[in-house]
Amino acid sequence: MTVALAFDIYGTLIDPHGVIEQLQEHVGERAPQFSQVWRDKQLEYTWRRALMRRYRDFGVCTREALDYADTLLGTGLDDGAKAALMQAYRELPAYPDVAASLESLRGDARKLYAFSNGTADMVDAVLAHAGIERFFDGVVSVDALQTFKPDPAVYAHVLKVADVEPGQCWLVSSNGFDVIGAVAAGMRAAWLKRSAQVVFDPWGIEPDAIISSLDELPQTVA
Ligand code: LAC
Repeated sequence: MTVALAFDIYGTLIDPHGVIEQLQEHVGERAPQFSQVWRDKQLEYTWRRALMRRYRDFGVCTREALDYADTLLGTGLDDGAKAALMQAYRELPAYPDVAASLESLRGDARKLYAFSNGTADMVDAVLAHAGIERFFDGVVSVDALQTFKPDPAVYAHVLKVADVEPGQCWLVSSNGFDVIGAVAAGMRAAWLKRSAQVVFDPWGIEPDAIISSLDELPQTVA
């Protein structure tokens, strides 16, 4: 039986805070705070735009969140600095456990997908820059549906692309809202708990597995 693995990208395979060094050049010691506001607001904008049915793609949400963070923190970034940071977002690093785990997960009975809020263009760029695009059978972007995770439609879409039943498809994500969205849609899900401090949302909808590193994934989905 074929099993499909749908990997979330930002926060799971690719570090959205990998932009902190570049941020330091512009905002100094406030870089970690800036990066957190940027990421939090980016996700909030996706949820609000999906709910309001005012879709603009993930690149727009990311740029608008950057503008918000700059105004909130009074950091006065000029257009050149913002363009450089948006470019850096296309070149974010993969986490250290990613390449070896993806390599060991490949197999005839498994299909691997990059499954993201990001547009196919953004995801292709960041995977290629990180040197991990070769591990995937395809990129599935929510952009095709003009909505965002955790709209049930996006989980139905990845199942359709992978051509598998819900029980044959694992979502692998560090983002709790994404895990809950997938489980609610009937998929299996592994929550990647990348930090000891993060807390899973107490909604009574639990992941099938909790792992602290992608190294644990091959035995989880075996
Ligand atoms: C993604 C967001 C959730 O990659 O980070 O889909």
